[in-house]
Amino acid sequence: MSGRRRLKDRTPLRTRLALLASGTVALITVGVCVASYAVIRYELGHQLDLQLTQAATLATQQNRDEGPGVKDGECRYLAAPACAQIAPADPADDPKGAYLLPVTDTTREVAAGTRAPYYTNLTLQGHRVRMLTTPYTGGGRDKALQVALRSDTAARGLRQATALLAAISAAGVALAAAGGYWISRRGLAPVARLTATAERIAATRDARTRIDLPPGRRDEVTRLAASFNTMLGELEDSVTARRRLVADASHELRTPLTALRTNAELLARADRLTPAQRERASSALGRQIHEVTSLVNDLIELARDEEPQPLVEDVALAPLVTHAVEAAHAHWPQVTFTLTVHPEAASTTLPGVPSRLSRLLANLLGNAAKFTPPGGAPVEVTLSSRDLTVRDHGPGIAPEDLPYVFDRFYRAEASRALPGSGLGLAMAQQIARAHGAELTAERALGGGALFRLAFPPATAVPAAGAPAAGT
Ligand SMILES: Nc1ncnc2c1ncn2[C@@H]1O[C@H](COP(=O)(O)OP(=O)(O)OP(=O)(O)O)[C@@H](O)[C@H]1O
Ligand SMILES: [Mg+2]
Repeated sequence: MSGRRRLKDRTPLRTRLALLASGTVALITVGVCVASYAVIRYELGHQLDLQLTQAATLATQQNRDEGPGVKDGECRYLAAPACAQIAPADPADDPKGAYLLPVTDTTREVAAGTRAPYYTNLTLQGHRVRMLTTPYTGGGRDKALQVALRSDTAARGLRQATALLAAISAAGVALAAAGGYWISRRGLAPVARLTATAERIAATRDARTRIDLPPGRRDEVTRLAASFNTMLGELEDSVTARRRLVADASHELRTPLTALRTNAELLARADRLTPAQRERASSALGRQIHEVTSLVNDLIELARDEEPQPLVEDVALAPLVTHAVEAAHAHWPQVTFTLTVHPEAASTTLPGVPSRLSRLLANLLGNAAKFTPPGGAPVEVTLSSRDLTVRDHGPGIAPEDLPYVFDRFYRAEASRALPGSGLGLAMAQQIARAHGAELTAERALGGGALFRLAFPPATAVPAAGAPAAGT
């Protein structure tokens, strides 16, 4: 049983479909032929019996009030009339001459009226005949009439019909086999292409491969192939993104790690350094370790695609933004921040992870503070029910840099001298997307950069108002 099952599992789908289709058609063809044979056979026999009954009636009419004996001896001819004879119930009444048809005890019983009429198949003078024995109703009593007709023509007809039906069956089975093979081949061709592509991808690990879709077809297999292509596209994107992240990360880590090694090597020969040199090298080492650590932490955060679901809660935006602005002010005391909360936004909530949203705000505020020149105009933070904007009065973002500021490790030419790795906005963008929000950068009217975080349309805005706050 299990062996047969294993064989079934191993047999290709195409073969199984071909066998199933051709087997079904072949079975139907053979069934129809067998049924036809049965009908023909019945009809031929029935017709012969009908002829015999008619012959018996005719013989009775032609031989009224006749005594026992042979009445017609035509049995050797193929066509009617049938040969006929009358036999008495009592053998003592038998005529002098011999009977043509066999007279037995059962014949006598029919003559005596104790047995119903019956048909017999027999061979007479080398010919197959069918005989009807029935009570003789042409006059007198206790006599049986026997009529016989050659049945070999019917038998030959049946033989010919059988040969013809067998030929039709064989042709039907052959055609069914060919048809089944063709149907399975044609019907499963897209599946075969799909399988071949999947196997090629598995073998080469190249997600750029796609399945050719026949234009204008919308059947199930084509739809499956289209979904498969979509899935491959996403896989390719994800593989490319992962490769780029790894390449970018290793490239970005190389510089600080080299500097770190240089300082570490320098400190290894600390005995040859003056205290001032040692102090400088060790503080540079500390700074670089800090840089590398935060870079690695940022990378780990970026590699994480989704917000952890258990930490999602309804975050009240106004307190979160207020806290972020206060923290930024504490970190950049020389920079002034102003916060405006529109009354309708005072109790706006957004489903999200508070720590991640804080991280997003810290990145935006950090950039604004970093690019605000000493003694520059305040950084303006505005929260409305639809969005949050952070605007500074620094150099702003050049139009040619605008499309790239959210790319990982992208830093505008002008800001290379400032600290940073170019991951902050990429991370902010990722957090925004994970919350269904959209983060965009603009050039503010009157100079400076403006970052806008547009909340998803479903953000809850209760009808409460609150006064504006400032830092
Ligand atoms: N407020 C801004 N004003 C002008 N340029 C900005 C501002 N914010 C970002 N940029 C430009 O976008 C680049 C990318 O910013 P991002 O925050 O991603 O990196 P970073 O601040 O350089 O480094 P990190 O945030 O990883 O420490 C910056 O290097 C800078 O060129
Ligand atoms: Mg930054």
